Amino acid sequence: MIRLDRFLANMGVGTRKEVKKFVSAGAVTVNGKIAGDSGMQINEEEDSVVVFNEVVEYKPYVYIMMNKPAGVLSASEDARGAVTAADLVAEEYGHYGVSPAGRLDKDSEGFLILTNDGEYIHKVISPNKHVDKVYFCLLEKAISATDIEAFSKGIVLADGTVCRTAKLEEAKTTEEQGYGALVTIHEGKFHQVKRMFLARDNKVLYLKRIKIGDVWLDKSLEKGQYREMTQQEKDSIITDKGERLQ
Ligand code: URA
Repeated sequence: MIRLDRFLANMGVGTRKEVKKFVSAGAVTVNGKIAGDSGMQINEEEDSVVVFNEVVEYKPYVYIMMNKPAGVLSASEDARGAVTAADLVAEEYGHYGVSPAGRLDKDSEGFLILTNDGEYIHKVISPNKHVDKVYFCLLEKAISATDIEAFSKGIVLADGTVCRTAKLEEAKTTEEQGYGALVTIHEGKFHQVKRMFLARDNKVLYLKRIKIGDVWLDKSLEKGQYREMTQQEKDSIITDKGERLQ
């Protein structure tokens, strides 16, 4: 059960103040009857709510795919006022209170999932769920066969942290881009990819996440653009692969 005005605000019909006005104007019906009180309790899963003759669908969770640009924090808010990924979607999805599923550094770009489903976030970021994340990197130096082997065995970072096994492959790049690589990891330690290359005496010059689980970042999304994930995309990111491996 939820207050009618909160339900309408959560579903993006308007602000709490606006939806109260809609109710007073008689524009809102619940199960066919005009709602007289914006504070009335409704059953959000069963009651039929109509505003200005349009049915308000109940959607408790939202799952957004964003192509995060460099310069934007992967956070829901920042005390020092920096622009966050949640700020970019605020106008359309602010009422959902979304958070990012995993971090991308401020200077990294690419696939970021924003959702208000905490359980989903946990599944995406938990190393035990084995959700692969693929990164395209531009590097200071070319990778070697020894690097590929070291990544596959588990890189030891400068502070002694041992990373799980990872896949390193050469990536096709233009002459202008220089040396490129694809890295697949299924954990998300702080600055992990950058630190893995530092441990191999190399340096990441550019980093973009291009795939999470089985889902590629939609190439039609320009930097800073986003869209809701399809049900199929949302579900295929989370498999029980990891649990079966344990
Ligand atoms: N690894 C990094 O070093 N940075 C990122 O943003 C993501 C993975």
